[in-house]
Amino acid sequence: MGGERGVLVSGNWKMHQDHAETAKFVQELAALLRVSGVPAGREVSIHPPFTSLPALQAAVEAERVPVAIGAQTCHFAEAGAYTGEVSAQMLARLGVAYVIAGHSERRAQCGETDEVVRSKVDAICRHEMRPVLCVGETAGERRHGAAVAKVRWQVAAALAGRAAGTVASAVIAYEPLWAIGAGQTATPGDAGEMCSAIRDEVGRLAGPGAAAAVRIQYGGSVTPATAAALLGADSVDGFLVGGASLDAGQFAAIVRAGA
Ligand code: 13P
Repeated sequence: MGGERGVLVSGNWKMHQDHAETAKFVQELAALLRVSGVPAGREVSIHPPFTSLPALQAAVEAERVPVAIGAQTCHFAEAGAYTGEVSAQMLARLGVAYVIAGHSERRAQCGETDEVVRSKVDAICRHEMRPVLCVGETAGERRHGAAVAKVRWQVAAALAGRAAGTVASAVIAYEPLWAIGAGQTATPGDAGEMCSAIRDEVGRLAGPGAAAAVRIQYGGSVTPATAAALLGADSVDGFLVGGASLDAGQFAAIVRAGA
């Protein structure tokens, strides 16, 4: 659990919440968090669709709610002939603090390879934002005992050869593919085992200081009912929440889980 690293609870809205819905959501969340507060040592971020980023930024400022601005992806190039894409620099100029790289939906649906994901992490770090690097195994890989090797490989592919300080400030989200949107959550034991393996891999790549500092989230059907036990698992420093982050009440409850 978080300890000195602190806890980061992030909402990945995927392709939900237009700009008007975003403003309404932030008002609701702010009202809930004004009553209950964000526990000390916890940080909250929201990753809306690109078109909702300005509305999120404006609502967070207007409501004075402690929510960091996140994005769901970016292109790896600085600029160029990439129709439909958004660069890391454009996000940085909007005040984005965290950018997801390598979500399994983009790896599967948009053909993002480990090499592409690594280039995206490069771009995010170049613009002084923090990557939220997503890794995770399929059900078949887990059944065949290949889960840890797969996830270590993904971590190394994205982070090997980077400065310890860069790795220390990154976030890694362990999201087993079989748990995403499935209503099936990893047990605290399984999540803790994998998050500890990820921390060990970070130590191998970037040294003990980076391993101690890097924050590792769990993602995959997190709900208010499962969050507290997962947060008690070894090396779990927060959550990347999909479905439950679309409901202000549920998201606020996850932000406060176990506190
Ligand atoms: P769910 O919480 O809906 O399973 O989504 C998890 C996820 O993919 C977050 O990035």
